[in-house]
Amino acid sequence: MRLTVIGTGYLGATHAACMAELGHDVLGVDIDPDKIASLRSGRLPFYEPGLQELLDRHIATGRLRFTTSYEEAAAFARVHFSCVGTPQSRGSDAADLTYVDAVIDALAPHLTGPALVVGKSTVPVGTADRLAARLAALAPAGAGAELAWNPEFLREGFAVRDTLRPDRLVLGVRSDRAEALLREVYAPVLATGIPLITADFPTAELVKTAANAFLATKISFINAMAEVCEATGADVSVLATAIGHDERIGARFLRAGVGFGGGCLPKDIRAFAARAEELGTGRSLAFLKEVDAVNLRRRDRVVDLTRRLCAGDPAGARVAVLGAAFKPDSDDIRDSPALDIAVRLHLDGADVTVYDPQAMDNARKTHPLLGYALSAEEAVVDADVVLHLTEWREFRDLDPAALASRVRARRIVDGRGALDADRWMAAGWDFHALGRPARS
Ligand code: UGA
Repeated sequence: MRLTVIGTGYLGATHAACMAELGHDVLGVDIDPDKIASLRSGRLPFYEPGLQELLDRHIATGRLRFTTSYEEAAAFARVHFSCVGTPQSRGSDAADLTYVDAVIDALAPHLTGPALVVGKSTVPVGTADRLAARLAALAPAGAGAELAWNPEFLREGFAVRDTLRPDRLVLGVRSDRAEALLREVYAPVLATGIPLITADFPTAELVKTAANAFLATKISFINAMAEVCEATGADVSVLATAIGHDERIGARFLRAGVGFGGGCLPKDIRAFAARAEELGTGRSLAFLKEVDAVNLRRRDRVVDLTRRLCAGDPAGARVAVLGAAFKPDSDDIRDSPALDIAVRLHLDGADVTVYDPQAMDNARKTHPLLGYALSAEEAVVDADVVLHLTEWREFRDLDPAALASRVRARRIVDGRGALDADRWMAAGWDFHALGRPARS
């Protein structure tokens, strides 16, 4: 089939390359000519395991092309995926819908036949209804343009796998024709036997926001338990393992630490709570404000602990920060707990040096005043405290004995509960983890 994918950011670039991998002829569309020029020459604007290979392969097969022209996009295909961002609005918690609206406004007037526009962005419930009306009003009379909603559940770091082999497909559709077209697009994915759920627009939109709200709540739940563990000397990692054995609870997303960041969970729970207030059901989602607050308190905890380890005053102390991305296998630094903590300690007067395996360029551009090193070994030189804030595999594999000779004081805070405390302590380190008793 011929498809367009509008918006070539994280979601769109991944979706476009994966649709080409499924055998479709794909045209990626973006209003940013630099992005399009870079993609045409095979350069991805971000790091995602496995995606570069797909981009290279399908630029070569000719199944993946790029344009800045909506006119060309409208003429190219009958099915158009809208994959633009819905960032947090400036000055409020609500989602900024400028870009999703702009896609309809730019595409609709060029449509000539019965096109299907498929929204994939995370949007406040009620948006699809509104966009359907906008599409009907702006498409030429009689063209028969229609909207569908197909939320995306991919995780950064696993984006290719999650797109080609998702846990489920959710299709918000209003006609048999829309469902049939989407079944055809996803035929190779559906052939693997994954569940397909068809729904009305508001349910399809809510599946996505509810899923992210649940995941964020699960993380904040275990981080709230970490706070209680800190007050009682209990160990949150043992607690998480023990409760996770109950299948109704499940072991995943129960890793206590510096909490969630990234371009999705934090802004999605805020937008969801803001939307509930608009709908008059604010009390139903008031707990999400608490989920957000617990999450942010974990960052405060690391800043306070570091201050304490620097005898109350981090001014002049050297702090090594291992990690800048909001999670491993990503170069995304949006709302990264690691960088938030690094910046706050820098503002306290500490001499902060950051190292991350992939996110250095992004971190340097956004926070030019922090110090940067080319390796973990270099970052820890003369450190008074080492903070482990993004759980990259290479940090787990570090040799604590080799690092011990480089630092000024052997103190490490494991903000992700991912390091082997016994190994670090055997090499003479004071080991601090969130929600667990300190060990030295
Ligand atoms: C999240 C959801 O997991 C995806 O299903 C969703 O499609 C995506 O948002 C989106 O809306 O686009 P993502 O932001 O890529 O995906 O990252 P996650 O793997 O969910 O991690 C989010 C944050 O939670 C990270 O900072 C991670 O370090 C943290 N986390 C995760 C924990 O602190 N503890 C855990 O147990 C798990």
